[in-house]
Amino acid sequence: MEGVILDMSVSIPHYFVSHEALAEARGVAVGKYKIGLGCHSMAVCGQGEDVVTLAAEAAWKLLEKNAGSREKIGLCIVGTESGVDHSKPISSYLHSLLELPSSCRIFEIKHACYSGTAALQMARNWSLQNPDELALIVMTDIARYERHSPGESTQGGGAVALLIGHSDDDDYFLELSAKSGIHAMDVHDFWRPNYLSSALVKGKYSIQCYLDGLVAAYDDYVRRSGDNEEVDYLAFHVPFPSMARKAHNRLLKHQGIEDEEVIFEDFKERVEPALWANRIIGNIYSGSLYLMLGGLCELKGNELSDKKIALFSYGSGSCSEYFTGTFGQRIPQLGLRQLLDSRIEIDVTEYERLHDASLLAERDGSYNEELDLIPRPFVFLGVREHERIYRRNEAFFKENLESYETLSNELNAATIQLH
Ligand code: CAA
Repeated sequence: MEGVILDMSVSIPHYFVSHEALAEARGVAVGKYKIGLGCHSMAVCGQGEDVVTLAAEAAWKLLEKNAGSREKIGLCIVGTESGVDHSKPISSYLHSLLELPSSCRIFEIKHACYSGTAALQMARNWSLQNPDELALIVMTDIARYERHSPGESTQGGGAVALLIGHSDDDDYFLELSAKSGIHAMDVHDFWRPNYLSSALVKGKYSIQCYLDGLVAAYDDYVRRSGDNEEVDYLAFHVPFPSMARKAHNRLLKHQGIEDEEVIFEDFKERVEPALWANRIIGNIYSGSLYLMLGGLCELKGNELSDKKIALFSYGSGSCSEYFTGTFGQRIPQLGLRQLLDSRIEIDVTEYERLHDASLLAERDGSYNEELDLIPRPFVFLGVREHERIYRRNEAFFKENLESYETLSNELNAATIQLH
């Protein structure tokens, strides 16, 4: 079977701020953030972290846990809406940091939060023609809104990496449906002009566009595939966790279920449990649907094998895609809880300082050889003569490689057979 998802991994920033602290600082009732939006804390990047280092870390972990995969990567696509350059793609930096083969097609793709799904679907098709090779898909973003804006509490950051390839048996993670339902329209619901570092958004309108896209893409899926069978789980793009509740509610009503109590019970069973990681990491834009998928894997483990899931991907602007997947026998364990436990909590003053520092780090002349390195595998040292400088953090590799290897082995008791 070609074009299946073999495995996945996740990376998240080193710091976080709680929504209790943010609510107090912004003079907002904490219930609005925690109950209304469903957000409990949000990830904040430290000095030396950016979308490239997050992407490199997620991909590096994926390659580490799949022995022999690096040499077989023939395609590497990065999906992001936090591009660091108008021309040079993030995949170029990954190519050197991860020591990928030279015979490897690399590029970056953008369509708001939809880019990861676009990359994934491209990789599936590529895999049909290149069954002996593997595709590496990396979604990486830092969600930034203006401070004090309604979107501020839905920020976050992180990266998800997927390995796509061939499997002779059921030793894979997820097989996607042959058909997808698509809906596209030209709207200004959420966007970021080239001259701005934070996104602009028409909040309520963007929710409406998302829900309209969901229903239209679902109808298109049923029309194209003839499949309207019930699924075991549903995962959605998660700009903030309550959006998944709104999406589930709208979809079930569209399917003819009106009873709010029935809908709520169904939400608690098929959707809610998987949202736990999104609640404490925040929006990671392109990877956020896949973070929800990862949250489900971490929670249910091997129970998922042979179960069916519906996936809804939304990218503002907009493009919506509804598709389904059937789990194989190799449910990835991502070590998400360990990762989250290793984060450091900061207060709102520090979050604001880091927010400003990350913007300054984007400017030419920010290069700092003496940067106090965070304990992460790759670090961004700043910009020197208009070139971004990244470094493998040798101290991290020295101190942590052994524990990473142990973790990888634990997570990955069965190594996939690479053909
Ligand atoms: N206790 C409990 N609940 C409370 C509360 C309290 N004290 N105070 C308010 N609430 C509830 C409100 O009733 C509301 O719930 P419902 O939506 O169920 O009615 C919820 O909290 C949010 O309150 P508001 O609607 O007043 O919030 P807001 O207008 O200030 O901001 C937002 C909400 C528009 C989503 C804003 O966070 C935003 O702009 N976010 C970014 C845009 C976004 O995420 N859009 C989603 C679709 S676009 C997309 O998906 C792409 C992407 O990734 C961005």
